[in-house]
Amino acid sequence: MQSLAVYQANFQAYLEQHQPQKEPKNLYEPIEYILSLGGKRIRPILTLMSAEIFGKHSQEALPAAMAVEVFHNFSLVHDDIMDDAPLRRGNETVHEKWNLNTGILSGDAMLILAYQYFEQYPPEIFKELAQLFSKTALEVCEGQQCDIDFETRDDVTLPEYLKMIEFKTAVLVGAALQMGAIIAQTSTENARLIYDFGRNLGIAFQLQDDYLDAFGNPETFGKQVGGDIIENKKTYLYLKAVEFASADMREQLDQLYSIKPNDPTDKIESVKQIFEQTGAVNATRTAIQDYTSRAFQSLEQLQISSEAKQMLHAFGLNLMGRSV
Ligand code: IPE
Ligand code: IPE
Ligand code: MG
Ligand code: MG
Ligand code: MG
Repeated sequence: MQSLAVYQANFQAYLEQHQPQKEPKNLYEPIEYILSLGGKRIRPILTLMSAEIFGKHSQEALPAAMAVEVFHNFSLVHDDIMDDAPLRRGNETVHEKWNLNTGILSGDAMLILAYQYFEQYPPEIFKELAQLFSKTALEVCEGQQCDIDFETRDDVTLPEYLKMIEFKTAVLVGAALQMGAIIAQTSTENARLIYDFGRNLGIAFQLQDDYLDAFGNPETFGKQVGGDIIENKKTYLYLKAVEFASADMREQLDQLYSIKPNDPTDKIESVKQIFEQTGAVNATRTAIQDYTSRAFQSLEQLQISSEAKQMLHAFGLNLMGRSV
């Protein structure tokens, strides 16, 4: 096993060598732009680590890691359109810097490019990777549609929310890890367990994303703090606040979540206070720990070296406490 920094550097080098540099520039420049803004590169690192954990050189997983990261970036470009987000990774979002049509089409091209990276694998592996990828990508779309549908619903339940984040976020984390398992041709049981590890970690990851969206540090977060509140997103924080609120607070929250003021500063502050006072923040912290623990249970059952387990364990703990 290598250090995370080495996986990240290897991935970065590969990414820089495999950027599509073609005409028309209004299609390809936004792709280069979003990919060059970096981000944490969590998913490709997991693909590389997973391949190595199951006995293949991580080098062989680079095309799949690239597919996962390009797909993730595609989903962010379209997500920022859907969420009306101005900022991504501390910079203007693609549709703000260019325009809506550019965001749509460059995003489409990225989805297709993602598939192309799998063509470098032999037929049997290609088939398995493509099958997993198609299933996952469709689930991401389903999750994203539910996320948008929930904005205008006031009867979203906790199980519905958990299914939504599992689909929009967690399945891709699971798939990133399972791709390493496919490339290394490990046992079906190992592939299932590593997927499940990633799925539960991904749920914790999205819960933390919801938390940071409201309580992150605007100086370092890289996205618009309060964006979910502006958009009336039915996050874990919101659903727990509804559950715990007194009648008075519930009424106040309902009112705040029915408006979209031009200047959202007061709305964001008031909603955050309700999230704190109702105990929704504490409940979210607990849920993050709970889903991380579930991930660790799958990790325990994996037939891999203890060094590899330790590394995945440290990775999970790190995600739980992240601030960006
Ligand atoms: C953001 O993902 C979208 C979610 C699924 C929460 P990341 O937080 O991994 O974004 P980057 O790639 O590091 O910018
Ligand atoms: C994004 O969820 C999930 C996908 C991009 C598929 P969010 O909308 O919460 O992600 P951020 O907060 O914009 O990164
Ligand atoms: Mg978003
Ligand atoms: Mg979104
Ligand atoms: Mg978010």
